[in-house]
Amino acid sequence: MKRIVIANWKMNPKNIAEAKKLAAGFIRLGGIRKKINLVIAPPFVYFPIFGVKFELAAQNAFYETSGAYTGEISPAMLYSLGIRHVILGHSERREHSGETDSVINSKVKAALNSGLGVVLCVGEKSRDDENFQVFVRDQLRKDLEGISKRYSAKIIIAYEPIWAIGTGKTVKPEDLYEMTTYIRRTLLDLLGKNAAHRIPVLYGGSVSAKNSKSFLDVNGVNGLLVGGASLDINEFRMIIKSAL
Ligand code: PGA
Repeated sequence: MKRIVIANWKMNPKNIAEAKKLAAGFIRLGGIRKKINLVIAPPFVYFPIFGVKFELAAQNAFYETSGAYTGEISPAMLYSLGIRHVILGHSERREHSGETDSVINSKVKAALNSGLGVVLCVGEKSRDDENFQVFVRDQLRKDLEGISKRYSAKIIIAYEPIWAIGTGKTVKPEDLYEMTTYIRRTLLDLLGKNAAHRIPVLYGGSVSAKNSKSFLDVNGVNGLLVGGASLDINEFRMIIKSAL
């Protein structure tokens, strides 16, 4: 399986001129980007910069198809634009937009029903709480409730411990191994054996050119979700190289 590397630009860069400059860097990646599954998740307004040459992900989508929902964007709209993935359950949206597991579950269902692949983010707030694994299992259980096994080919799980996002702190390889194994065991309970084997599990949280290989070397880690470091094309190129 090719490694999956997702560039989550979050609410960056600040304007279209800077976004075009950054996108040009991604275009210049040339052949190496074909050796991995590269997905770029820019803010909605920057989608047109990329055209059809890149696999793009939305950073959010609503759970209805159309209607009186001011400010929302539906999965069907994204699909019709050629977008094929959506990131859901990101801790920043759970925190800043108050998204509950029940809302996330509705969004996961709507996205899958519209043909989008879902990158579902889960992760504990802190490891001081001895129940941190149960916390992650509960997120998976609630966010994937009622999802048919047949959608397992369309689901990616990104394990992003909240304490590691944008902080420079990262998870130890042995702890990452333990968690990805635990996530797969949970997927087995929820969606069955095939799903547990098939669903890629990514790591995200302060990934950099210096540490990316240490996560990819962990057995069972299928790729990376990269935030801050995806805004610096030289750094990002090195991350991709570590995934070849
Ligand atoms: P970070 O963000 O790489 O800047 O820590 C990762 C994420 O939130 O997806």
